Amino acid sequence: MTQNHRKLFVRSFGCQMNVYDAQRMADALAPEGYVETDRAEDADLVVLNTCHIREKAADRVYSELGRLREMKAERAQDGRETMIAVAGCVAQAEGTEILRRAPGVDLVVGPQSYHRLPDLIARARTGRVVDTEFPVEDKFAHLPAASPEKTRARGPSAFLTVQEGCDKFCTFCVVPYTRGAEVSRKVMHLVGEAERLAASGVRELSLLGQNVNAFHGEGPDGTVWGLARLLRRLAMIPGVERLRYTTSHPRDMDEDLIAAHGDLPELMPYLHLPVQSGSDRILSDMNRQHTADSYLRLIERIRAAQPDLALSSDFIVGFPGETDRDFEDTLDLIRAVGFASTFSFKYSPRPGTPAADMDGQVPEPVKVERLAALQALLEEQRQAFNRSCIGREMDVLFDRAGRHPGQVAGRSPYLQPVQMMADNVAIGDIVRVRILSNGTNSLFGEPAYPTLVDRPVEAVA
Ligand code: 5AD
Ligand code: SF4
Repeated sequence: MTQNHRKLFVRSFGCQMNVYDAQRMADALAPEGYVETDRAEDADLVVLNTCHIREKAADRVYSELGRLREMKAERAQDGRETMIAVAGCVAQAEGTEILRRAPGVDLVVGPQSYHRLPDLIARARTGRVVDTEFPVEDKFAHLPAASPEKTRARGPSAFLTVQEGCDKFCTFCVVPYTRGAEVSRKVMHLVGEAERLAASGVRELSLLGQNVNAFHGEGPDGTVWGLARLLRRLAMIPGVERLRYTTSHPRDMDEDLIAAHGDLPELMPYLHLPVQSGSDRILSDMNRQHTADSYLRLIERIRAAQPDLALSSDFIVGFPGETDRDFEDTLDLIRAVGFASTFSFKYSPRPGTPAADMDGQVPEPVKVERLAALQALLEEQRQAFNRSCIGREMDVLFDRAGRHPGQVAGRSPYLQPVQMMADNVAIGDIVRVRILSNGTNSLFGEPAYPTLVDRPVEAVA
């Protein structure tokens, strides 16, 4: 095997930021001769990009590492070396503990050190390495960009991390410990990265951050820019047709951001705004710094700016001390808002977080029951929203081939998957689609104007 043809397999767990990070790790390793493979067995370097948010997610890492260790032994019998690296939030939280529990692991690397991967991998060849420092240097300034070919291969919808970390300290959450304090990237760096992505065919940017609407990046004029101002600037980049951002905190929805939902056409009419609970007592114990009522009033204000808005949220059931009455309050809030799509979880005590030591831990069967009731209501709302789309026309960005021959798949403005039979639609096209029906997860449509396809100039040429 030559130095030029090493194979890399990255497996990501958890949130979209890990998906973005996985791409940046691959970009950082490309100059070292690493080519991505989608088969772990073929890889000379396997990176598990881990998630620590709930216990289940962290446990999966260790079972996966057990499997990888066997694979490493098998490859060794064939005379092939395999390096195993653990990245992401479990790496950050557990550090050397991973080396103790998982003997096959060569390298443990926290999210703030990805720009040092080539160096860390070189060092790991001679002995096991752990790097979970929070370096002062800006890792983004050192992470190389993807090649235009790679960006093209990743499709017309791209992630762009604009902010990392969180200062909110919700009492259930490990993020402030694993990803550290809020740090925003500089506006001009983001504009540069977005321009490069757009030049390679990206038409939709999803801005990422653990607390993305707390973005406060240094602008080119030296002043601090908020997220709305950044969105307005990114919308000016030729080729950028759609903007999204995730994930937000209700406390950081400022006037300008609310206004942008009404007056920035590129900003998609979809908002993921986690509320977690509808009980003021629980919200207070969670240190969410908002009440159910202030959340509802906020939603009213955003809907006043953009009446055509699909809302999404995160919920936790079974937080310590949650009574049936508290849970009913959550169901009431859900009924009052009407969500288009959601994520909901049983509370999972995380070591080192305040809620893990609170009295009144809720028994597992109660959590299971509440989660089922909550998800039944949320699923009803999701299906109702999807049904309300039937007969409507909407622009769909097609980003992949469909499951069946001749079918293309994309996303509606409201982030719903849409499938369509069409022979004149290419990946990257934004097409006006009439929605005809809905399945369990997707909408099905037909071109509203069969001969008119909005294709980027470059692709037509
Ligand atoms: N237990 C259950 N869910 C959690 N989340 C974060 N921490 C926990 C935990 N300890 C959920 C929250 C958050 C989402 C990303 O994960 O709902 O918004
Ligand atoms: Fe965690 Fe989000 Fe709360 Fe920050 S705002 S502590 S990331 S749940």
